[in-house]
Amino acid sequence: MEVIAKGAEANLYLQNGVVVKERIRKEYRIPEIDEVLRSTRTKREARLLSLARRAGVPTPVVLDVDTQRKSITMSYIEGEKLKYLVERLDEDELRELFTHIGSLAARLHRSHIIHGDLTTSNMILSRGRVFFIDFGLGEVNSSLEAKGTDLLVFAKAVRSTHFARESQILEAFFSGYLREYPEGEAVIERMRSIERRGRYVSAR
Ligand SMILES: Nc1ncnc2c1ncn2[C@@H]1O[C@H](COP(=O)(O)OP(=O)(O)O)[C@@H](O)[C@H]1O
Ligand SMILES: [Mg+2]
Repeated sequence: MEVIAKGAEANLYLQNGVVVKERIRKEYRIPEIDEVLRSTRTKREARLLSLARRAGVPTPVVLDVDTQRKSITMSYIEGEKLKYLVERLDEDELRELFTHIGSLAARLHRSHIIHGDLTTSNMILSRGRVFFIDFGLGEVNSSLEAKGTDLLVFAKAVRSTHFARESQILEAFFSGYLREYPEGEAVIERMRSIERRGRYVSAR
């Protein structure tokens, strides 16, 4: 059993060729509440991974959910995290990739799936396909506010991780998003207004 990641919420292992994401106990929580939270989040993440896949977004296949162990067993996605890949791409490749990623985000939102942590750390390029992982902060929510917030998380993450290429990336992303989801115009408008609201509040 090989540890692939240790996060704030979960440990990930590679075990017999599949990934086990196990939500770890938080000592600061009341044990009964900790149980319920970890169970709920485990089930919710498994459900969202499957829903996203059905919406046309490549995600790991959920093989098992263990409510005792608070773990999801899923297929291992062999590839490179987009976060690292971005640095090696030229302008055309970057545009093509993020137009595609925008269309994947649009497929999620069209099905009212909120990812919750859309960043290039949660995307893996595998055999020419982009996979979305880590739906631990996701939910099903049809509101403009939830979708707008989802996009704002992405835009802010791009701003901080890929500063030099921010405008190229976001331009491509939103064009792909709109092509796949024309009603998404309202989501983008909402994202901008959430951002203005945030600035206004934090300026006081
Ligand atoms: N199905 C998978 N296939 C390959 N690598 C994975 C898979 N799921 C997670 N990982 C790796 O483990 C890391 C952490 O998993 P993630 O679900 O993002 O948890 P966290 O909530 O801790 O960010 C990811 O960034 C990725 O490198
Ligand atoms: Mg993650």
